[in-house]
Amino acid sequence: MDKMRQDTVIAHAGRDPSANHGVVNPPVYHASTITFPSIADWEERDKNPYGAASYGRSGTPTQFAFEEATTALHQGHQSVSFPSGLGAIACSVNTFVKSGDHILVADTVYGPMRSRICGAILKRNAVEVEFYDPMIGAGIKDLVRDNTSLVYMESPGSLTFEVQDVPAIVGALKGLDVITMIDNTWASGFFFKPLNHGVDIVVEASTKYTVGHSDAMLGTATVATEEHYRAIKVMANSFGYHAAPDDCYLGQRGLRTIGVRLRQHEKNALKVAEWLSARDEVARVMHPALPSDPGHELWKRDFEGSSGLFGVELVPASKDAVMAMLDHYTLFGIGASWGGYESLVQTTYPGKLRTAHPWTSEGPTVRYHIGLEDPDDLIDDLTEGFARYNAAR
Ligand SMILES: Cc1ncc(COP(=O)(O)O)c(C=O)c1O
Repeated sequence: MDKMRQDTVIAHAGRDPSANHGVVNPPVYHASTITFPSIADWEERDKNPYGAASYGRSGTPTQFAFEEATTALHQGHQSVSFPSGLGAIACSVNTFVKSGDHILVADTVYGPMRSRICGAILKRNAVEVEFYDPMIGAGIKDLVRDNTSLVYMESPGSLTFEVQDVPAIVGALKGLDVITMIDNTWASGFFFKPLNHGVDIVVEASTKYTVGHSDAMLGTATVATEEHYRAIKVMANSFGYHAAPDDCYLGQRGLRTIGVRLRQHEKNALKVAEWLSARDEVARVMHPALPSDPGHELWKRDFEGSSGLFGVELVPASKDAVMAMLDHYTLFGIGASWGGYESLVQTTYPGKLRTAHPWTSEGPTVRYHIGLEDPDDLIDDLTEGFARYNAAR
């Protein structure tokens, strides 16, 4: 049983019924104060006899169970939990970057990583951020300077879903003193394991597919070495990051079913994406599992599957037509986030964000998250939406 398959791993990792009165799931500990049986134990509190940290902020068996299960899914060394995905990104980046550094960030990263972390926090701290074309591959090496401390990836990219050649990027940086970090939220550790491709740090918004029910905020950073774990854990503690125990419970419970849910999201999303591709109103569907997608070959080589989130570029039309289409869907909610069981849609504006690889497409763009509803019902809803779109064009 040394090499269990991942469906088995996620069913069993991070839980120990024998240590918990036989109860299958790890319990939720709500804790700030943790008391000790004696002053001698208190003075040796790093070796807490109860197997927890010495203070709630540093974690209890509730956080540790979720972190252990996450680590097992990623085949990593350790994970640190965070109160949100953005928290995981902010803390992990700030762990490895200091004033005077230069860092390389994919042009297609999650908006707040670009605007808030790079555009505000790092700028104020005199870190030079250079955005690179996500398709750069091994060419990343030409951008590395003496003071480059971090290369940050996200694959596929937010909103436009470009697949990065992660092995080529990591390979090109081998031997250099540069940390590699990736936002792996789209695939989750279930469909892509960046640590196995040599990436140093994997950050994820567990808020999405891990929790899977749109009812908790959670993030993780998962690493391959004790050195990187210590560095992030110390920084997380210093900033006072603490993932709420109820949310960690939902995260570890979500991990038990992430496989079946993701496979269904994949199936439903592909059916809808293929249907959309054939529509006259659609210029292109940005989904790496479609053979027509420019990232398809890389996706096929590196990923085990695809999730439920993809982009659509419509043929040029008025804003009123787009609004008429999106406003009156029956099943698609309008909102941020994704990864839950329900379908969502939002308008996107990649042209306002890209600098290294300017966005030149002319049509309006939208992002769909395909949930676990029957995809034929979603297609009926989309069909009615296109009727409104055509009437308002
Ligand atoms: C790709 C990606 N990364 C990170 C985040 C941030 O996660 P959270 O909302 O948990 O802070 C999001 C949220 O939408 C996301 O889409």
